[in-house]
Amino acid sequence: MQNTHIINKIKELKARKNAVILAHNYERGEIQDIADFTGDSLGLSQQAVQQDADFIVFCGVHFMAESAAILSPDKTVLLPEINAGCPMASMVTAEALRAEKKKYPNAAVVCYVNSTAEVKAESDICCTSANAVEVVNSLDDEEILFVPDKNLADYVAQNSTKRIIPWKGYCPTHNHILVSDLARVKKAHPGAEVLAHPECRRDVLEMSDRVFSTTGMLEYARRSASGEFIIATENGILHKLKKDNPEKRFYCTSEFAVCPDMKAIDLDALLLSLERMQHVITVPEDVRVKAKLALDRMLAVKRSRQVL
Ligand code: 13P
Ligand code: SF4
Repeated sequence: MQNTHIINKIKELKARKNAVILAHNYERGEIQDIADFTGDSLGLSQQAVQQDADFIVFCGVHFMAESAAILSPDKTVLLPEINAGCPMASMVTAEALRAEKKKYPNAAVVCYVNSTAEVKAESDICCTSANAVEVVNSLDDEEILFVPDKNLADYVAQNSTKRIIPWKGYCPTHNHILVSDLARVKKAHPGAEVLAHPECRRDVLEMSDRVFSTTGMLEYARRSASGEFIIATENGILHKLKKDNPEKRFYCTSEFAVCPDMKAIDLDALLLSLERMQHVITVPEDVRVKAKLALDRMLAVKRSRQVL
């Protein structure tokens, strides 16, 4: 089917079924373009709560659709490609976390939103890349068991006085961005500002000018006076950076910084999802209630920060 025909069908079905399409900033360009809202993990979970649509079609990976289902049990959440997972989220299980908690009985458990509902249910509070430092610093506890991203845990430790006990997980896409990649691109574009995601290794962050979530990068690139940027994160974000700032230049750090799971949804899969109302993401109620507590606590930290 031709793209314009598919796009028209998606729009027609979306209106008929009272659905809203959310897309993460790493999704394919054509998926971002057809979405009602694009954003980072934090922004999209908030969008999911605010929508009064009957269906939320989540173009992202499994944990994101799960978070929407946890926060909005009255809506049906669809993930167009059921195999779109997050390798980092799979690096910690609820069972392994329970065992680790026994070793650190005084530690609060902070879990990155890139985690399963079961892991969230075992955690005291969630965080995203946009608010990890604020979330950790908001806690009274001095010892923090931080799961699953060791790089984000390290970034938080650098920006907090708390004792951070990191899990050993990581994002393969971000962890494979190397200092040598960044050095090569910096050499080619010495005047460019370097924006990095906190899932990157510490040495990459140390070579960067600023560290942001994906939406943080988009907002910063818009307001910065710089005309050139090197972007150390998954390359899907370059689509919106270029679209929002046609007069500025953006360079990726490596052509390999591509998350296959974030590219799993294409227009065909999105159309099929709306036609067949697939794949419905649900969370068992006992797990959902506990996981929601951890997400609600995180959203409360964000809200109190906005009020201040
Ligand atoms: P955000 O900065 O958009 O929350 O990204 C995290 C991520 O890696 C999603 O997979
Ligand atoms: Fe997971 Fe990394 Fe892919 Fe994000 S980019 S979904 S953290 S593997």
